[in-house]
Amino acid sequence: MAKTVDELASQLGGFDGLRVLVRCDLNVPLDAGEITDEGRIRASVPTLRYLSERGAKVIVMAHLGRPQGEPDAAYSLKPVAKRLTELLGAEVVAASDAVGPSARAAVEAMSNGDVVLLENVRFNAGETSKDGAERSAFADQLASLADAFVSDGFGVVHRKQASVYDLAQRLPHAAGGLVLKEIEVLRRLTESPVRPYVVVLGGSKVSDKLGVIDNLLTKADRLLIGGGMVFTFLKAQGLEVGKSLLEADQLDTVRAYLDQAAAAGVEIVLPSDVVVAPAFDAEDAASVVAVDGIPSDQLGLDIGPESRAAFARALADAKTVFWNGPMGVFEKPAFAEGTRAVAEALTRIDGLSVVGGGDSAAAVRQLGFADDQFDHISTGGGASLEYLEGKTLPGLDVLKD
Ligand code: 3PG
Repeated sequence: MAKTVDELASQLGGFDGLRVLVRCDLNVPLDAGEITDEGRIRASVPTLRYLSERGAKVIVMAHLGRPQGEPDAAYSLKPVAKRLTELLGAEVVAASDAVGPSARAAVEAMSNGDVVLLENVRFNAGETSKDGAERSAFADQLASLADAFVSDGFGVVHRKQASVYDLAQRLPHAAGGLVLKEIEVLRRLTESPVRPYVVVLGGSKVSDKLGVIDNLLTKADRLLIGGGMVFTFLKAQGLEVGKSLLEADQLDTVRAYLDQAAAAGVEIVLPSDVVVAPAFDAEDAASVVAVDGIPSDQLGLDIGPESRAAFARALADAKTVFWNGPMGVFEKPAFAEGTRAVAEALTRIDGLSVVGGGDSAAAVRQLGFADDQFDHISTGGGASLEYLEGKTLPGLDVLKD
């Protein structure tokens, strides 16, 4: 088991005056420099505040997007520093590099309780390098800034990267409260979930979800499938899907899953109708068709009204629900109703409702739902899926003492 922050404090004789590097996941969606979902920033605040109140010099590390290992203004964490300052109610100094002169000067100037945000760690090739030596060199530079490490970026614990993995091998470390809370919830989904256990999967790609589908076929009672990935399922059943998203190379795998589910008694619920349009941005031309009547010149962009009602019914008696991936292109009102219907059904669950990170978290907030209408909104998309797949997550594994 990983140490808690309190246990790390006992080991180190308290945090007062200690420099503590904290890995957060502050990878938030931006639109023209504006943060469109600040959930991950909010979720990071408690651990940062806790350390700051105990006199630590809190040095925050994070990434934004996927820059190519060199500085790129489009992926700067500066807008995040501004919002973090507001949420913490104390100035967060934004360094303009992660291990260079700006970071060093900012850390040097810190008083107890101060918070510094290093610039995007992915501006350094060593952060994401597959070459262990290159990662090590960057981790050494990060480690030289601090006395201890707290891993609180749940959304990146599935990445074997310098600020997530290698750093923990160099400094006394602990798992932050956010990471521990996320694991506690995901454990309830994997170890004897209260039944019926219903899983809703959406999003664009079947190939991203293969591992989790494979694993859930032996665990869940019902699997509801929507989003762009559903068209590969419909095609696997012999239906024509027009111009809809299709992963033709996954058809055999999907057919095997359908057979496996039938043999295991797991109910797979697919939509019976979909909202189609001639193009992604042709909202005005949207119409509803049955899944066996998708026109060859149109593409499916959401589940239809009959399916929304069926999905809500399939969720009504659930005692445990995990949902990952929107049902349609929720950013456009004409294709948002499927996602809204699933979100609404989750708010009525008499049991544990978990929204699994990334797009689904952004979707529920954008559609006007409040975080407390769900039991848990994970900050990790890929990380929560890999946890449910039963994979070893390097960023968690390395914290074990
Ligand atoms: C996420 O958005 O899921 C995390 O921040 C991880 O980002 P990544 O997929 O770019 O590693």
